[in-house]
Amino acid sequence: MTSTSVWHVANRPSQVQRRGRYLPDSMPHPAKMLPELAAHAISTFTKPGDLVFDPMCGIGTTLVEAIHLGRDAIGIEYEARWSAAARMNVAHARANGASGEAEVVLGDCRHLRSYVPSDAAGQVALILTSPPYGATTHGRVRTSRAGVRKWDHRYSADPANLAHQGLDTILAAMEAMFREASFVLAADGVVALTARPWRRDGVLVDLPGRLVDTAARAGFRLIERDVALLAAVRGDRLVPRASFFQLSEVRRARERGHPFRVVAHEDVLVFGRRP
Ligand SMILES: C[S@@+](CC[C@H](N)C(=O)[O-])C[C@H]1O[C@@H](n2cnc3c(N)ncnc32)[C@H](O)[C@@H]1O
Repeated sequence: MTSTSVWHVANRPSQVQRRGRYLPDSMPHPAKMLPELAAHAISTFTKPGDLVFDPMCGIGTTLVEAIHLGRDAIGIEYEARWSAAARMNVAHARANGASGEAEVVLGDCRHLRSYVPSDAAGQVALILTSPPYGATTHGRVRTSRAGVRKWDHRYSADPANLAHQGLDTILAAMEAMFREASFVLAADGVVALTARPWRRDGVLVDLPGRLVDTAARAGFRLIERDVALLAAVRGDRLVPRASFFQLSEVRRARERGHPFRVVAHEDVLVFGRRP
């Protein structure tokens, strides 16, 4: 049976969580994981000394939080700009007392096995990652009388980045990632993916559901489906930290008479290998 719990990881705004812990070169990355989400996953699914792996590591949130918690970590990132930022964040964490060690490799998650040192094969306790998708839901925005200005919404100009591919290509890459993951995971190791549904032209794209099917094809079963709150808890109220894009999508839908609500959480899908 699949279990569920609610992760209370956004009481502090993301900028506050990152301040002093991540270097300024990281900030333009369009889709960073919440540090407290990464730390919660790592504390829940691993113990000190374990090896944590992120095959699409971006600016290295998984790695930084892992080494601060006394785990070791390996990350792969496709873009040179973000892998350099991840390396700098790891060095910054080490200089600030993180006791674990981490390595960042420039590469492709579809071949993750080839980047893992042979002595680490079968040793990974946790793969924690978030798949890239679309520029439409990311980035920073300023509105003025002149219109809407949007920036930092792209990972790069490289069309081969998975974020710039269609959903089917992203899911095929995730299936390849899962198949390769079997070779690096410890016997009781788990894969945790964070993902959100999004709307394209008003229609819901159920990325979490598609990821569950994709993992099943690669021999993994869902063991937990958790809710990472993207909202602060204030007394008995939730205060959502919705993005500009979510708010404008929901406003437009409501103007058309559709009773949409802002999504105030991210799914955390936790998989184990099928026996
Ligand atoms: C959602 S972001 C991950 C962000 C990361 N969790 C963090 O906190 O910075 C997905 C990342 O996957 C990278 N990516 C895209 N295609 C890739 C591939 N084929 N292999 C590895 N990484 C890839 C993107 O450049 C992006 O940085």
